[in-house]
Amino acid sequence: MSVVESAPAVDAAPVPYSGSLLDSGARELLLDTVREVATDPDQRFVLGRRTAELERRLRQRVGTGDVIACASGTSALGLALRAARLGPGDEVIVPAFGAEPLASTVLGVGAVPVFADVDPVTMVIDVADIARRLTARTRAVVPAHTFTTMADMPGVTRLAAAHGLTVIEDAAIAQDATLAGRAAGTWGQLGLYSFFPAKPFGMPGEGAAVLTDDPELARTVRALRDHGPGGERRSVHHEIGPHSGFDEIQAGFQLARLATQDARIARRARISAYYSQRFAPLRAHGLSAPAPDAEQCHYVYAVRTKRRDALAHHLAAHGIGTRVYYPLPLPRLPAFAPYAPPGARWPGAEQASAGHLALPLHPRLDQAQVSRIADAVAAFFR
Ligand SMILES: Cc1ncc(COP(=O)(O)O)c(C=O)c1O
Repeated sequence: MSVVESAPAVDAAPVPYSGSLLDSGARELLLDTVREVATDPDQRFVLGRRTAELERRLRQRVGTGDVIACASGTSALGLALRAARLGPGDEVIVPAFGAEPLASTVLGVGAVPVFADVDPVTMVIDVADIARRLTARTRAVVPAHTFTTMADMPGVTRLAAAHGLTVIEDAAIAQDATLAGRAAGTWGQLGLYSFFPAKPFGMPGEGAAVLTDDPELARTVRALRDHGPGGERRSVHHEIGPHSGFDEIQAGFQLARLATQDARIARRARISAYYSQRFAPLRAHGLSAPAPDAEQCHYVYAVRTKRRDALAHHLAAHGIGTRVYYPLPLPRLPAFAPYAPPGARWPGAEQASAGHLALPLHPRLDQAQVSRIADAVAAFFR
């Protein structure tokens, strides 16, 4: 990969942060899939044979005991928490920096989220801080992979085993990533992937999957996604569950897209590696970028700098879209502030929130766009 330095092209076409999800091939595939499902004599639109086949193919691809497709990543987290029998009186440790569902789903089952700090550089949960936040009520931990970095799953699972905690691995953003040769989503008793459009295996709609090696947990998640486990007779439910199905049009689309998934991930990885190569010399000027690492996930490429807002304005002036994902740590959000113990602090999460800026990273970016983005960042710091 050559590193070409050039002045930013102010008059070039804008590079929006996300761009469109569907290239022309994917658009045609979606339209063909709609026709196929609409005209299928089966007339089964939710949790039909395509969903079952997608679950089977993902099971094989990931090498896990079971994969249960459901309506969204948020719903998958809720299903996993319920299947793990977490509820009132329980504390669940979640990262202080990350997506809202990490805390809202815990509250949704009646348990209390306890926020552990993140490492300010990698922005993933700090295992030492998990240990500091344990109490007699702690029942589970939900580590989440963030941007380009997988959480320290060996460290989390060791600590959890020592304290008898359930691990629910939130791999919403990390499908197809591995750590120490083990697939994201397979480290805990339960794991999950989101298929929300911008995710690594994103699709034109909402959907997700729960992963587990435990047949009993899998059976419970399957039953819970369909209003809750029943008895001998259909629709005689013994327990309340949400309605969290998976759409057959999306299942057909995802089945067809599996063949090209590795190429999309490889393209994301190449862009990520290129950025990291270009940004390494800028460390001395105040830019901190993810280190190139074969085992990173490639969802969002976030740099960190004390001059974050100025960098965002500079890039906007050059037609380049950026995003701040989590402007405040979770316990600082008004919705979750009641669960922040008085006087508690999360310095790593504060730094991550104040400093991160995500640059465009998706497989439809071409090399000219990627070079232009890197050039514009470099020009800001020189
Ligand atoms: C870490 C994490 N968990 C859960 C979710 C929720 O996934 P979904 O958008 O599919 O509901 C997200 C969404 O971005 C996420 O980043």
